[in-house]
Amino acid sequence: NRTGFIFDLDGVIVDTAKYHYLAWRKLANELGFEFTQEQNELFKGVSRKRCLEILLEIGNIKASQEQFNRWLVEKNEDYLSLIEEMDESEILPDVLKVLQLLKKHNTPIALGSASKNARPILEKVNLLDYFDVIVDGTHVAKAKPDPEVFLIAAKQLGVPPKDCVVFEDAVAGIKAANNAGMLSIGIGNDKVLSEAKYVFANFTEIDHKFLNKLIALTP
Ligand code: G6P
Ligand code: MG
Repeated sequence: NRTGFIFDLDGVIVDTAKYHYLAWRKLANELGFEFTQEQNELFKGVSRKRCLEILLEIGNIKASQEQFNRWLVEKNEDYLSLIEEMDESEILPDVLKVLQLLKKHNTPIALGSASKNARPILEKVNLLDYFDVIVDGTHVAKAKPDPEVFLIAAKQLGVPPKDCVVFEDAVAGIKAANNAGMLSIGIGNDKVLSEAKYVFANFTEIDHKFLNKLIALTP
């Protein structure tokens, strides 16, 4: 049996959270309220639509469906202009090293992201070719912590969920991986990601030996 590797995008491969934050903060400020970095934590792994709902709850603002949709478009346009210049230099430390090692072992690799901008971002940072399968916010109906995104990825990789490893930076993403019956690996703070099977601050902390065990699915 081969191990399938599934990567979240935002916060795992690239740090786009800061751009999402700037775009949401701009909208909040336009609507007359503050939006803090701490509040932005709640937005990690959460769909664009759900983020706007939370933002409007924070600002105590009611909106018609049309207005809601206009704000969704506006936020995304601002976000897209912020990430326009993104390139390889924004790939997080040692992500490339891990992807290269997995490729060397011919390991099936998927992306499992809530973002509808996942594919263009992978193109910008020149990582598209590493992924055998891309499942993103344009393909799923149910958001993390629902396991849908990871289950679709496993299916497309042709790997049973129990033989898949998921790298995630968001609490909702770890829950989704666990709900899918996969081995969850948190990238970030171990207190925040306490539900993950393993947690590393970043990929620099994952050594060769551990990766090889994952590839053989005997961690
Ligand atoms: C990721 C990010 C979230 C973001 C979501 C949707 O999960 O962590 O912060 O809201 O993707 O991204 P999108 O690019 O579709 O607006
Ligand atoms: Mg993430």
